[in-house]
Amino acid sequence: MPDTLAINGGTPAVPEDMVRSWPPITQADRDAVLSVFDTDPLHTRFAPKASELERRWADYCGAKHCILTNGGTQSLHMALLGVGVEPGDEVIVPAFSYWSSAAAIIHANAVPIFVDIEPHTFCIDPDMIERAITPRTAAIMPVHIHGMPADIDAIVDIAEDYGIPVVDDAAQAQGAKYRGRTIGGLTDVTAFSLNRLKNLTGAEGGLLTTNSDAIYECAAATGGMGRVTVEGSDAKRTFFGHGYNYRPQELTAALALSQLDRLDEYNARRREMADYLTAALHHRFGIVGSIVPDYAEPVHFMYVIEFRPEELRLDIPLADYKAKVWAALEAEGVPICQWQQQIIPAMDFFQDERGYAATPAWSMGGSTVSYDPHDYRRAQEFVASHAYLRGVHPPNGMDLMERYVEAFEKVLQQIEQVLG
Ligand SMILES: Cc1ncc(COP(=O)(O)O)c(C=O)c1O
Repeated sequence: MPDTLAINGGTPAVPEDMVRSWPPITQADRDAVLSVFDTDPLHTRFAPKASELERRWADYCGAKHCILTNGGTQSLHMALLGVGVEPGDEVIVPAFSYWSSAAAIIHANAVPIFVDIEPHTFCIDPDMIERAITPRTAAIMPVHIHGMPADIDAIVDIAEDYGIPVVDDAAQAQGAKYRGRTIGGLTDVTAFSLNRLKNLTGAEGGLLTTNSDAIYECAAATGGMGRVTVEGSDAKRTFFGHGYNYRPQELTAALALSQLDRLDEYNARRREMADYLTAALHHRFGIVGSIVPDYAEPVHFMYVIEFRPEELRLDIPLADYKAKVWAALEAEGVPICQWQQQIIPAMDFFQDERGYAATPAWSMGGSTVSYDPHDYRRAQEFVASHAYLRGVHPPNGMDLMERYVEAFEKVLQQIEQVLG
């Protein structure tokens, strides 16, 4: 006889306060941050901790260059300008991502061209990229969403055929591997976020990696107020041009460096928890966990679950099933969230001409692109049928995952009552 459901007054499967938040902060982190006040200066890429982080992150990714910035969106913007995206150009990007992927394209005064997602990884579908390419395409931006690597080889092959650079958005994928190779050195340029939620955090901040000297020089100048120093025959001379203040600060670098010491360990613990959940859900009907393709070693920035009423042969609309199962799980103490309520092209900015059409790429660049959310069926289906299980990260551990599985079992075994 299963325990009484929490929605019916039973004891929740997950005790209150058992789910702890990210990131774990250790004494080493505290010491690292405080040590910044003993050094000088407190900002710029050339401060000691910033330089050390750039060196270590380049090595970690197997990339020649790294630039520390003050945000992931900023890193993406610098990366796009670094590969030569110009006003009015088009940039291909998946229809499902965080808003920043599109925002960085808008910042570059370029036009986002959305492409639908692949049904298991939820990353851009390489098979759909080619038909989105036009003479105006200046970059392709895959996003390693939820820490799952996009199919980079397939994307780079297409890009090379057309001579288009690839800028990957790895904001959520620090340490993820594609066919055994670390994300960050596999395309023309990669952008990472260091915000508080990310697998590697400095509270706020970003990183950019590239193997290209030219992209590095351009991105570094763009993010450093347009500043370029030229060695003349007599002396060095500094010039300022079009650029932005995307300079980092030392406190971020110190925290990120200290967290980097534990990145691989934390990612391994995320994987252990995620694999356990996926295996447990595999034996039950009605909810499915993350699916990992053979090529990928993901880092599970977020753990994705899919609601599948059809597996239970239930004739109930997906939205009702999801809402009821969600409520029952939440009552059991399982924290669930939606993260993104909409795919990017369905957002007001792209549905109302006072949004995108007022930006320079349309108003001055003469773009005629418009956005129909129905063109991205899989991305829409993903938002409708999926949600996120929170807490699948350190300092939480397998004890919490066991409670989650108990909650899933309890709810799915008594599904008639849940749907009542
Ligand atoms: C996929 C993706 N791209 C870009 C960003 C932007 O990073 P940041 O918040 O550091 O600007 C984020 C961050 O939330 C993200 O999740």
